[in-house]
Amino acid sequence: MNWSPRDLTPFNTFGLRSTAEGYAALYKVQQLTDWAPKSAPDLVLGGGSNLLMMSQIPGKTLHVLIKGVDVLKEEGPRTYVRVGAGVNWHQFVLYALENHWYGLENLALIPGTVGAAPVQNIGAYGLEVCERITHVHAYEYGHGMVTLAANDCQFAYRDSLFKREPNRFLITAVDFELGTDYPVRTHYGAIQNKLAENGVDDPAPPDIARAVIEIRNQKLPDWSLLGNSGSFFKNPIVPAAQARALSNQDPDMPSYPLEDGRVKLAAGWLIDQCGFKGLRRGAVGCYKNQALVIVNHGSATGEEVLAFSQEVQRAVQTKFGMELEREVRLVG
Ligand code: EPU
Repeated sequence: MNWSPRDLTPFNTFGLRSTAEGYAALYKVQQLTDWAPKSAPDLVLGGGSNLLMMSQIPGKTLHVLIKGVDVLKEEGPRTYVRVGAGVNWHQFVLYALENHWYGLENLALIPGTVGAAPVQNIGAYGLEVCERITHVHAYEYGHGMVTLAANDCQFAYRDSLFKREPNRFLITAVDFELGTDYPVRTHYGAIQNKLAENGVDDPAPPDIARAVIEIRNQKLPDWSLLGNSGSFFKNPIVPAAQARALSNQDPDMPSYPLEDGRVKLAAGWLIDQCGFKGLRRGAVGCYKNQALVIVNHGSATGEEVLAFSQEVQRAVQTKFGMELEREVRLVG
């Protein structure tokens, strides 16, 4: 591997000005097995869509650009495909739709790469990616190539083994089980409303994809026009009693009961209630249509975004007594 300094501004969807001390691109698994690192580089970069990058990234930054989509087998309505970690997630969702490999349509338009999808177990509109993953292929530092079955990946809400042990594996490819027989997922209100608006009453997977794309385009800023990393914080999960106490104060508060009896609250709503929606401090602010998305109006640094996000956390703590946890990963 050849490591050289590199401007990372084009490689993070937040558009934060950032420089890597040492950068190298990874196109092939063989580069990795030839190099055979015993420990993780300082930063493994995919689509750079869930990162809060500080101005200087010390040490080694490895950019995963492994491409390729291969059909492994077809079995009745199901198709099993292996996808390179560096493939753009949304391009893959569109390609899968074209091929009638259905089952990922609720996850259309999520930024980032295929290799990053299992790390935080991306989810949207009632579907989590772990439901369609069969295996994850990875390089285990100090060990070599390994294949993990989905059951061994400890998938949970925005969480996985890869997130819990960030310095253990580098994901090189992901296997998916897709097919024409998955029932469409329409239980999210936003999807139902959009399908009704589009005049669709018996939706097929392409209708769901279209609905999701339209919803996301309305609510979430296009990072190529306005830098952002999607939801900046996680939705807090609280005991039922705490959720009840809060909704007694404000019956309009959105809340989603979970199977384990706890309740998921909407961080965006909490932040909105603190008056931050559309609020701007210099180059940083909360998006006008979704307070949970922090945006870069032009030339912000990671340090400025961090300071702004801490102001948001303090406001929510003061008003609701709740600590918001970052969803984006801070690097540098
Ligand atoms: N809300 C407000 N004001 C706001 C923002 C939201 O009142 O400024 C309310 C909404 O009206 C709604 C509720 O809060 O009642 C939840 O908002 P929304 O439906 O937009 O979803 P979310 O919980 O903010 C989550 C994911 C998104 C995912 C959507 C759709 C997390 C942290 N975020 O957002 O994921 O696209 O649901 O499933 O779980 C991401 O992870 O980067 C991401 C964008």
